[in-house]
Amino acid sequence: KVYSHTRTLIRKPLIIGHRGMPSVAPENTIISNELALDTGADFIENDIFLSKDGYLVIIHDSTVDSSTNGSGRVEEFTLEQLRQLQVNQVPGTYYPEARIATLEEQIDLARKRRAMIYAEIKTDNPAAVDAFVKLVKKKRAEDLINVMSFNTSQLDRLAEQLPDMPLGLLTSGYANENNVNRGLRDALRTVQTYNSTLNISYGGLGEKFMEAAHHRGLLISPWTYNNLSDYKGVFLQGAYGITTDYAYWSKDWVYSV
Ligand code: G3P
Ligand code: CA
Repeated sequence: KVYSHTRTLIRKPLIIGHRGMPSVAPENTIISNELALDTGADFIENDIFLSKDGYLVIIHDSTVDSSTNGSGRVEEFTLEQLRQLQVNQVPGTYYPEARIATLEEQIDLARKRRAMIYAEIKTDNPAAVDAFVKLVKKKRAEDLINVMSFNTSQLDRLAEQLPDMPLGLLTSGYANENNVNRGLRDALRTVQTYNSTLNISYGGLGEKFMEAAHHRGLLISPWTYNNLSDYKGVFLQGAYGITTDYAYWSKDWVYSV
């Protein structure tokens, strides 16, 4: 299938290392992000929560249960306590240095590697947004970060404090092949107020949806491509960024399209 806008599209979509490269190393850790950047990622994607003592930490869930040997809510652990937890290793590999990291450490890594961060504000705690703004200002990291969230209140709170920060709405709706259905139309309207990216889940992303998004000047970064044939296919749809657990696919993929 040939999409009309592919005739003029020649650039490589940006590769977003989803939680680093969790197909190889523990998700959301520094080593996982380093490996993603070593093998082709332009962005590293990290999920953000707040520790009990006010540090922004990178972990997927509101509890530590699914990604470590611990149990309980992230916000009930100090950073020191979080660091003592063993993170879950990927079967067949072992990275002893892998630990829960802070956003500050991820910013330092991104700067050193001239990479970008997709920071997902996953917590609903407004104090995390305030801590985020403070950290971004302290690190002068405005140019290194794109923010995204499912939570529009958190995005609004951030937009008030950092109006120039690129903000993206995350959605988990489906584009329903070529239809821009009502939910997606609402999502397009909502995200347009942030003037940034729409990080849509990718099932059924269709030509009409992409056209509608491009018409509104939106950048589409769908998630999460862990199937190689779909990953190749999204290039033809003109995605701005491709979120994947397999950043290392990108080199082969770019030259084979
Ligand atoms: O890139 C979007 C994606 O990260 C949202 O899903 O659950 O992996 O954080 P999740
Ligand atoms: Ca995420």
